Amino acid sequence: MHWQTLSSYDALSERGADLFLAAIRRDPRIVLGLPTGRTPVRMYERVVAACAREYHCFRDVVTFNLDEYVGIERTHPGSYYRFMKQHLFDFVDIEPTNAHIPNGAAQDTIVECARYERAIAAAGGLGLTLLGLGSNGHIAFNEPGTPFDSRTRVVTLTESTRAANASLFEGQVPTHAITIGIGTILESKSIVLLASGEKKRAAIERLRSGEITEAFPASALWKHANVTVLTSMT
Ligand code: GLP
Repeated sequence: MHWQTLSSYDALSERGADLFLAAIRRDPRIVLGLPTGRTPVRMYERVVAACAREYHCFRDVVTFNLDEYVGIERTHPGSYYRFMKQHLFDFVDIEPTNAHIPNGAAQDTIVECARYERAIAAAGGLGLTLLGLGSNGHIAFNEPGTPFDSRTRVVTLTESTRAANASLFEGQVPTHAITIGIGTILESKSIVLLASGEKKRAAIERLRSGEITEAFPASALWKHANVTVLTSMT
């Protein structure tokens, strides 16, 4: 695991965007796993700004978002579909059919999870996956206790995760989500994890300790040969 401690959230976002863009330049057809949440917002801003200068940045890129809430429509302000449009997809030249997000409003979410896993495999698997870090150590929506060989499935969100994500839901935070599994993440060729701010300090220290346990999902990343962790305390 390769650790980089950055001086600020800005510097972390810049480094994340550099790694993101370098991966696209190396392989313009790369398959990316993409996170939501507050942490990657400025990284996406920087990617958008760079791609406004570089024509056809995302033309052949394929993306798979890591997760989505169950039971909310794509138009809901709290949906990750809306988030991705607002922060990335509306501003780059990605083919809409190449930008995959689990459909949390699907009639049959179990069928949707199987379809999503198949779509990742059909695209050749994830090339680079960018991850945030939950303060309880979750990656995507894989909460503590998740088996490391888990695949895309419906999960029940913990109360702490629901509280952390309450702002866009006016008190009605979904109870369930679709998330790609830890096994799915570990099959990505490379992984970059971004963790920023005082609220993440304990989780960052626990990850850094090197203890590998399903009680702390991010620790699964120690089993992967190509992981970069970007941290900043502000
Ligand atoms: C959310 C998302 C995760 C994200 C994490 C951290 O619940 N499902 O994919 O990485 O929590 O979010 P934030 O960056 O807002 O702290």
